[in-house]
Order: sequence, then structure tokens, then C-alpha cells
Amino acid sequence: MQQTDVLVIGAGAAGLMCAATAGYRGKSVTVVDMGKKPGRKILISGGGRCNFTNENASPDNYLCQNPHFVKSALSRYSAQDFIELVERHGMPYHHKTLGQLFCDNGAQDIVDILMTECEWAGVQVKLRNEVLTVEQTSEGYLVRTTDASYQCTSLVIASGGLTMPKLGATPIGYKIAEQFGLNVLPTTAALVPFTLHDHDKQKFDGLSGISLPTIVTSESGVSFKENILFTHRGMSGPAILQISSFWQAGQPVTINLLPDTSIETLIAQWRDQHSQKSLKNMLCTILPKRFVEILIQHKDISDKAINQISNAEVSYLSQYLHHWQIKPNGTEGYRTAEVTLGGVDTDELSSKTFEAKKAKGLFFIGEVIDVTGWLGGYNFQFAWSSGVACGQAC
Ligand code: FDA
Repeated sequence: MQQTDVLVIGAGAAGLMCAATAGYRGKSVTVVDMGKKPGRKILISGGGRCNFTNENASPDNYLCQNPHFVKSALSRYSAQDFIELVERHGMPYHHKTLGQLFCDNGAQDIVDILMTECEWAGVQVKLRNEVLTVEQTSEGYLVRTTDASYQCTSLVIASGGLTMPKLGATPIGYKIAEQFGLNVLPTTAALVPFTLHDHDKQKFDGLSGISLPTIVTSESGVSFKENILFTHRGMSGPAILQISSFWQAGQPVTINLLPDTSIETLIAQWRDQHSQKSLKNMLCTILPKRFVEILIQHKDISDKAINQISNAEVSYLSQYLHHWQIKPNGTEGYRTAEVTLGGVDTDELSSKTFEAKKAKGLFFIGEVIDVTGWLGGYNFQFAWSSGVACGQAC
């Protein structure tokens, strides 16, 4: 049996950050992970360049049943703190749109920083080591893995959510929470592409790969101004991924296909200047041609000369193009989702230390808890912030 002050389950973003922080406090820390590499989700994130934080991260960018829960951790370890860490390590990075920061070279740089920090802090990282059982003992917790048994005073669950089972996602964190009597909120895939009903799939079949700027709005009234992308399975792109976190089965989403153009104004201009030309001609100046052709072919829009369009038809076009409704069939699920919505109920945890109120010495951090960030580096920022808050206390 191996003794360690702190045992962390999960060598992902939250677990490694927590381990290094606790190690610097002089604790003996061991991290166990079933994978053969640390930080496997970090490595595939952001298309391999890891969108490691968002400069504008604030509690408003998170979904959680208790919207105040994330405030403390985010304010104590902010995006700026993580940026200082990567700068201390001399890691080159760049800004993209909407406050998102990405690695210049690749996501391995972030894993290297975390592993270097763990090494400097004296943390042991044990890979290919799957956790099988956890028991409470008089000194803390006994954790059995496929490789060894560990006795620890503090046990940190950083085992992530259910997305990408191929990368070692398991429900172990939820099971441990339930074992100690903590409430676990229902989980679903989020930041995930939509699939379409057969009729829409066939209709938009030829559009795969086409992307366009939009404003997408959920039934609950949440909006994102970003691109949508047609795929061979349905719809994706940042606006769709964002809205998927706010979508419930059976609901439509409303898409403003012309976020920066008023169709009424444009028709008025064309009535003055190109009144003989066709509506199709005009629409092809502001929307992808193939998309316009499909709308005409399926009689969603009837093509005619601009000077033939009645005022009622202008109103219809405005309603149709600025409030285009699509009813997804479902989502692609955990297989391709970026995150898991729901998880360990934050009411069960201290927002300062992430310790379970009902189980002394048991902590939950990162994606396993009911905190889900928007797309754009917010999920990693929560992993860093919760990891540091817990590492200072465990
Ligand atoms: P994480 O999942 O990273 O780590 C959990 C670890 O626990 C894993 O290494 C797993 O092997 C281990 N584990 C699970 N069960 C175990 C068991 N029984 N025994 C031992 N070990 C076990 N976010 C963002 O902010 N910016 C981005 O660019 C992206 N991009 C992105 C792309 C894709 C494709 C995905 C799937 C996700 C993202 N994300 C993202 C989300 C981000 O990756 C995610 O929120 C964090 O990795 C969560 O960090 P955690 O440390 O909580 O879990």
C-alpha cells in the first residue's frame, strides 16, 4: 500500500493544476490516470492548438444550477493568472476572436507546462492506472487501482465528464459522488453538433462544408453571433455548438441568416438600382449560392424579378431569413461533444475549496461537477481555477 497526502484521480487539466498547487504547499501528491499520456483532452483541444483560456472569462459564461458557485474560484485564479503562467514558461500564443487564446505551436506546450509544474512541485504522476474502488478509512481514503492501492488524507476527483469515451471518459467521478451520498444532476452532451431529421438532412445534403455568419437563438432566448456550418450529419460550427448547451429535445432554434444586413433595406436598394434583376441574384450576394438554390428549389422562397416582389413578400422574406427555424433531430452525443452538462451538484461542494460538505477530505473539480462553460476557452479556465482553489485547500 502506498501512502500519499493527496491522491488526485485524473491527469487532465484540473487534476494536474490541482496536483502542482498542492505539491508546492509541501504535500506529497500522487496523480493516477488510466490513460497512457497525461492531458489527452488538452492535446486534441482547439483543433490541436488548445484554446487554453478566454481573456473575458466571467461567471456569466458558465451554466450551473447555482450561478454564483463559480465566482470565488474564477476571481481567485483568473484568466490573467493562467496567462502569466504560460508567459513564465515562455510559451508562444496568439489571440483569436472573442477573447480566445491559442497556443502558437500546439497543445503539447500546455501539457508540458503542467507536467513541468508537477515535477517542480514533486508530484508523482502514475499513468495506465485505472481507479477501481474507493473506501473511506479512519485516516482518509483507500483507493484501489489496476496497479496499486493508495492511502490518502485528501482525495481529489478530477475524472472529467463523459465526452469522448475513446479518450478514457468514465463515470467514475459520478459513482464516487453517489457512493458518498452526494447528489448528481442528470448529464447530457453539450457543445455538440446537431443531427437533422431525414427530410432536412436530404434537403441540405449538398451543403456539407458550407459555413455562414449568423445569430442563433435558443427557445429560452439565449443568442450567439457566430458561424454555423453544414455537415454531412447535420449542423455544427461555433454558433451551433454554443446553442446546443441551451437546447432541449423537440425545441427549434431560430437562426438569423443575415446578422449584418436588413433584407428590407437591401430590397429597397435593389428596387432603385437593379429592379430587373432576380431575387436569386440579390440573395447570392449575401448568402452562399448553393444555399439560396436549395431554398428556391424547395419553394421556401420563390424567385422573381425584384420589381415583382410585393410588400407582403418582403415581410415574408424578412421573417424567413432573419428568423429561420430549424428543428434538430438530436445531437451527435458524447462521441463528439466537447463537454458534459450536469454532474456533481455544486450545492454539495464548498465554492472556496471544492470539498464535499458531507465527506471531509473528498474534493471534486473540473468537468465532473455541474459547471459547463461556453465554447471559447472557458472550460479550461474553470479547470485551472477549480484546480488551484482545491490545491490550496486539499
Ligand atoms: P479531463 O477529461 O481533461 O481529464 C479527466 C481525466 O480523468 C482523463 O485523463 C481520464 O483518463 C481520467 N479518468 C477518468 N476515469 C478514470 C478512472 N476510472 N481511473 C483513472 N483515470 C480516469 N475546452 C476549452 O476550454 N478549450 C478548448 O479548446 C476545448 N476544446 C475541446 C475539444 C474537444 C474535442 C473536447 C472533447 C473538449 C474540449 N474542451 C475545450 C473541453 C475541455 O477539454 C474539458 O472541459 C477539460 O478537459 C476538462 O478537464 P478535466 O480535468 O475536468 O477533465
